[in-house]
Amino acid sequence: ESTLGAAAAQSGRYFGTAIASGKLGDSQYTSIAGREFDMVTAENEMKIDATEPNRGQFNFSQGDRVYNWAVQNGKRVRGHTLAWHNQQPGWMQALSGGSLRQAMIDHINGVMNHYKGKIYAWDVVNEAYADGNSGGRRDSNLQRTGNDWIEVAFRTARAADPAAKLCYNDYNIDNWSWAKTQGVYNMVRDFKARGVPIDCVGLQSHFNSNSPYNSNYRTTIQSFAALGVDVQITELDIQGGSATTYANVVNDCLAVPRCTGISVWGVRDSDSWLGANASALLFDGNGNKKAAYTAVLNALNGG
Ligand code: G3I
Repeated sequence: ESTLGAAAAQSGRYFGTAIASGKLGDSQYTSIAGREFDMVTAENEMKIDATEPNRGQFNFSQGDRVYNWAVQNGKRVRGHTLAWHNQQPGWMQALSGGSLRQAMIDHINGVMNHYKGKIYAWDVVNEAYADGNSGGRRDSNLQRTGNDWIEVAFRTARAADPAAKLCYNDYNIDNWSWAKTQGVYNMVRDFKARGVPIDCVGLQSHFNSNSPYNSNYRTTIQSFAALGVDVQITELDIQGGSATTYANVVNDCLAVPRCTGISVWGVRDSDSWLGANASALLFDGNGNKKAAYTAVLNALNGG
C-alpha cells in the first residue's frame, strides 16, 4: 500500500495524526493529512479550556471543525482529553474539593454527550502519574480531590458514551523499567481486577534524548495488552526523526495483536509542538516525505 493509513489497515490497525483546526485552511497540510492518515486527534480543540471556557457553557466550535473535517474525509476520531491537570480554564483551576470533583464529572458528561457515538476512543484521563522515581500520582488539583478521581472519571465516561473505548493516556510510560510505567501498569491491573471500566492505554511516545526509545518498548506494549486492554500509540514523535527508531516503534506495535493503532503528533515538522528544528515528524516543512516516512510505510507493509 502507498499511504500510511492503507498500509496500517492491512493488519486491522489505524495510522493517525493530530490535527490543528487553525491549519485546516492550509491546502498542503490538508492534502497530506487527507491522503495519509485514517485517524484524527484534535491537537487542542477538545481539551477542557477549549470545550468549557466558562463553567456549564460548552463550546464545541473548534472541536467540531476538526471532527467534521475528519469525518468528511473518511477518518475516525480519537477524543483528547477529558480530565487533565493542564489546559484547565481559569474557573476550573480555582476550584477544589467536592466542587472540582463535580465540575470534572459535569465536564465529562457535557463533552461526551456532545460527541456521543462518534468517537473511537477517548483519552479520559491524561498524565495523572508523576515523573521521576516515585511511581505514584502526580500532585494536581484533581488528585487532591481524592485518589479515586481517576476511577470516578472512567465510570462517568462509560455511562456517558458506552460506545467509546476509554483510555488512560500518558508520556514516559513507554520504558518498561521506569517507575512511572510500573505505576500506571499497577493502576490498570487494579482497575481490571475491580471492574473499573478501562479499555485502552495510550502510550504518548514522545521520544527525545532524555526519554529515548528503548528496546523494552515491545515488552511494555505486551505487558499492558496482557492485562486485557488495547494499547494505542497516541502522540508519537521522535526528536531528530530517526528512521530506524520510527521503524522499531511500528514493528513493536505490529508484534502485539492488541496494539490497535499509531498516531503521530502532527503532520509536518513545522506543525510540531517541538518546533520545526526538532525534525520529529514524518514530513518536512515543505511537505516532503522524509526517510522516517519511508521506514514507517515499509514496516507497515511488512518489510
Ligand atoms: O492559540 C493560542 C494563541 O491564541 C496565543 O496567541 C498563543 C500564545 O501563547 O497561544 C496559543 O495557544 C497555544 C496552543 O498550543 C495552540 O498553539 C498554547 O499557548 C500552547 O500551550 C499550546 O500547546 C499545546 C500543548 O499541548 C499544551 O499543553 C500544543 O499545541 C499541543 O501539541 C500539546 O499537546 C500535548 C498533548 O495534549 C498531551 N501530551 C503532550 C503533548 C505535547 O505537549
